[in-house]
Amino acid sequence: MATALIKHLGRHVGETVTVQGWLYNFRSSGKISFLIVRDGTGLVQGVMVKKEVGDDLFALAATLTQESSLKVTGVVREEPRAVGGYELTLTGLDIVSIAEEYPISHKEHGVEFLAERRHLWLRTPKQAAVMRIRSEIEQAFRDFFYQRDFVLADAPVITPAACEGTTTLFEIDYHGDKAFLSQSGQLYNEATAAALGRVYCFGPTFRAEKSKTRRHLMEFWMIEAEMAYFDIDDNMKLQEEMVYYVIQRVLERCRQELKALERDVTKLESVKLPFPRISYTEAVELLKKAGEEFTWGDDFGAPHETIIGSNFESPVFVHRYPTAIKAFYMKPDPNDPKVVLGADLIAPEGYGEMIGGGQRIDDLGLLEQRLDEHKLPREAFEWYLDLRRYGAVPHSGFGLGIERTVAWICGLDHIRETIPFPRMLHKMYP
Ligand code: 4AD
Ligand code: MG
Repeated sequence: MATALIKHLGRHVGETVTVQGWLYNFRSSGKISFLIVRDGTGLVQGVMVKKEVGDDLFALAATLTQESSLKVTGVVREEPRAVGGYELTLTGLDIVSIAEEYPISHKEHGVEFLAERRHLWLRTPKQAAVMRIRSEIEQAFRDFFYQRDFVLADAPVITPAACEGTTTLFEIDYHGDKAFLSQSGQLYNEATAAALGRVYCFGPTFRAEKSKTRRHLMEFWMIEAEMAYFDIDDNMKLQEEMVYYVIQRVLERCRQELKALERDVTKLESVKLPFPRISYTEAVELLKKAGEEFTWGDDFGAPHETIIGSNFESPVFVHRYPTAIKAFYMKPDPNDPKVVLGADLIAPEGYGEMIGGGQRIDDLGLLEQRLDEHKLPREAFEWYLDLRRYGAVPHSGFGLGIERTVAWICGLDHIRETIPFPRMLHKMYP
């Protein structure tokens, strides 16, 4: 018998197929039973009629508990009223394993209860929909870069130095030496960009942030790109085209999942190119107009980003931040050295900063000075300084947090649902 994935049942109308999965729900009238089966790609209702399958098979089906694993065989029929649009008229049932009483029932559970059982919670249709959208988003990023001749150059996870400040480092013992889990692959991207032109890396990054917010994880995945001969404007243009491409891909390929999440897709459909661009100084004006007390020179907090983002339907670039609040590697604006040629991309609907990026310092002397100002150890950065000694060029790059992007696209309240196993402050089980 041919096996079929539930998402592809439409290709098999009229045929007999076997679906391999788990029992999501069961109800029976005594003469007819309904088995809702999930296989990871969707849900399908199997209909079993007693007088057609016989007493034995019918009785066997009644022994099934929620999450028992099974193989069901039946004829595929179109049924617009059924979940997924198709139904199986069952002729066979093969039980693989009867599940013990399943802790996550179909009633509402608190999020604490579910988070403790994340390994099982992932099986529920909404969580599975988020994971499928995450997978589509990651694939879309890769396809975007591949189409544009970028080289995927993986950055190390174990590093000898800080990239994004020394306060959020996870320290590890590296055979007696001090090492850190990477906060960002950027510095390595700058080296591979000088070797390969346009590069990106995609991997886990780590921040020992003492923040317990709905936007922060201790371990998150970042897509980081770095381009030789790109200035701040080239950088923003690439980013908006990338984000727009990813949104279109999800709208095109994940309609079912967005529906399962009850996402208001008009919000995603109203994202338009080009994205608005405002300077930090203009953003401060915008905050003041909204009644916020804010001093030029301070960094934005989550509430400020929410206000800025909700002024626009598309994500908005905020560029030229004060030099003092940005990382050591940011290039000062030649027209106004109080600010740097960096830009963050702020998502709409209160999702906050999704990209941080900018043009890098390409001058050796200035970079040495910045390392000293930021009290960073020169020895650990000698290799990075080499990139300014041997063929320095203007270059720019950025890093996009996958989880914040998934949260926005899916319309989720909290970042913990955007990754299979979130790592949060004081929480790493399971
Ligand atoms: O703005 P950040 O710190 O930028 C960098 O790390 C640069 N070195 C990237 C580069 O230019 N190659 O972080 C980039 C993005 C943020 O905009 C946010 O989306 C995400 O990473 N991010 C987090 N996501 C979840 N939890 C956290 N604790 C995060 N910290 C940053
Ligand atoms: Mg940032």
